[in-house]
Amino acid sequence: MSDLKKIRDEFISKLKGNLDLAELNKIKSDLFGKNGLVSSQFKKIGTIDVTERKKFASDLNIIKDELHDLINLKINEIEKANINEKLEKEKIDVTLPERSFVKGKIHPVSQTIDEISSIFSEIGFSVEEGPDVENEYNNFTALNTPDNHPARDMHDTFYLDDKKERLLRTHTSPVQIRTMLKDKPPFKIIAPGRTYRSDSDQTHSPMFHQVEGLHIDKDINMGHLKGCLNYFIKEFFEVKKIKMRFRPSHFPFTEPSAEVDIGYEIKDGKIIIGEGDQWLEILGCGMVHPNVLKNVKVDPTKFQGYAFGIGIDRLAMLKYGINDLRAFFDCDYRWLNHFGFDPLDVPTNYRGLSR
Ligand code: DAH
Repeated sequence: MSDLKKIRDEFISKLKGNLDLAELNKIKSDLFGKNGLVSSQFKKIGTIDVTERKKFASDLNIIKDELHDLINLKINEIEKANINEKLEKEKIDVTLPERSFVKGKIHPVSQTIDEISSIFSEIGFSVEEGPDVENEYNNFTALNTPDNHPARDMHDTFYLDDKKERLLRTHTSPVQIRTMLKDKPPFKIIAPGRTYRSDSDQTHSPMFHQVEGLHIDKDINMGHLKGCLNYFIKEFFEVKKIKMRFRPSHFPFTEPSAEVDIGYEIKDGKIIIGEGDQWLEILGCGMVHPNVLKNVKVDPTKFQGYAFGIGIDRLAMLKYGINDLRAFFDCDYRWLNHFGFDPLDVPTNYRGLSR
């Protein structure tokens, strides 16, 4: 019997056995691998006498095809059987009851912060953050707030140590200092976040939210401040025109300083923003005091600009018709279900997260 026939018969009978995938792959490489039995027969062709070479090559090809097809057939059969077994085992039971899930709501304050951030980012402001626990320097001294200023009083500020060095920030203004200390001008940022004061009644909560704004460049003036705030308020309240007034005021970190009121009226028990002859204070602002710029190593003869601080909770209450500030922080799920926002069904003017 020729070598070829021996190989063929031996493997055909091997392949009749009950083989698993690993065994079949082993046979495949024993025959067709680099030094496999069939592969080595191919290498022999050149050494065979010319008269027999043609027949040898033709027999070899036939045997190779036969064994190759048989092995692949067996491999396919096993793979099919595996899939069928899996399908059988992993059947989905569509009669099972669905798993219950609870969809959360976005808190009106978070929603308002997102809206404010997207409006300002559209006009070139980036968003900065600072820590709730601040040092005395960033919160007061660097902001040109003298030692005897009433805001520094225990009645107003939550101090975290006896030396009054660490405190819960009383406003977001220290983020101005942090931003200017870590970078070089120009600056154009807003900084939303939590702020704390020792105060609690229907319109004050010991923890509340502010957004700080700061724009410093070579020739930024009060006109820019007015334009920017006017744009923001119109966008935020979704009105085409807004009645707005700047009232002279005092903040240690701005000169001149102003408070901004917007016009409103009550019609059929509902508040209408932007019209009417009543005024509502919504923010403080001004041109950044040269002393503040000096404290952060920005040259006030070369750079100037404006800053503002807006109470976020007040804006959220006005826009979404919420009348008790304390409800914001009560963590009452029924309240949140009513006033919260569906994360997948956001208001029409929502422009997406900008942070
Ligand atoms: N930090 C002030 C406050 O909490 C608000 C404020 C007023 C911020 C004027 C400013 C500003 O940046 O320029 O009452």
